Amino acid sequence: MKIKKYDQLGKRDGLPKDLQKLLEKYPRDSWGEDVLNGNWVAFWLGRHSLFRKISTSIHDIIERKLDSKLSTESFLRQYSQLMSLMLKNLDSHHAVEDNYIFPKFYNKSKQFIYGLDLLENDHLLIHHSIDNVVHAGNKLLSLGLTSENGNLIDNLGKYKVINDKFDTLLKSHLNDEEDLLIPLVNMYGEEYFGLGH
Ligand SMILES: [Fe+2]
Ligand SMILES: [Fe+2]
Repeated sequence: MKIKKYDQLGKRDGLPKDLQKLLEKYPRDSWGEDVLNGNWVAFWLGRHSLFRKISTSIHDIIERKLDSKLSTESFLRQYSQLMSLMLKNLDSHHAVEDNYIFPKFYNKSKQFIYGLDLLENDHLLIHHSIDNVVHAGNKLLSLGLTSENGNLIDNLGKYKVINDKFDTLLKSHLNDEEDLLIPLVNMYGEEYFGLGH
């Protein structure tokens, strides 16, 4: 299903209104332990929490390097480890959602098909943003190994803008995805969708 321009990731603010009906019935502060600790939900939210943590750590080392509180060597090592952890895990997470998780919801909740297509489209947009991050990140890494600290700091300032854009898209996607799928699990349970075991 074609995603409306204003519903695209980066353009919308939270889930589109039409997709919020179940969220209104099951708002975040009502999500009970039984749902959050469910087999599939607990694992899935654990992955989301990992992405949020990696993203905070990357943000952290960028700020520390910009404040000259981190050596170039330490920054480059931590940056490449964190970014490779992020990209590897995000790639497999999205592949599992697109090919295994979303189809399970797709078959059982026809009224949310637009929402599932929206989330799948988000993955594409996130991966476009990742291309920019990787391009700028590689430049940063090769520069860091060869140039003066001042030059790296200059480029890190530019890199941060690209990294922040990616971050905003990722976090907004994670929130919207949870806001669409957790209320459905609240309403029907994991087993109804063939999740968990
Ligand atoms: Fe996703
Ligand atoms: Fe996800």
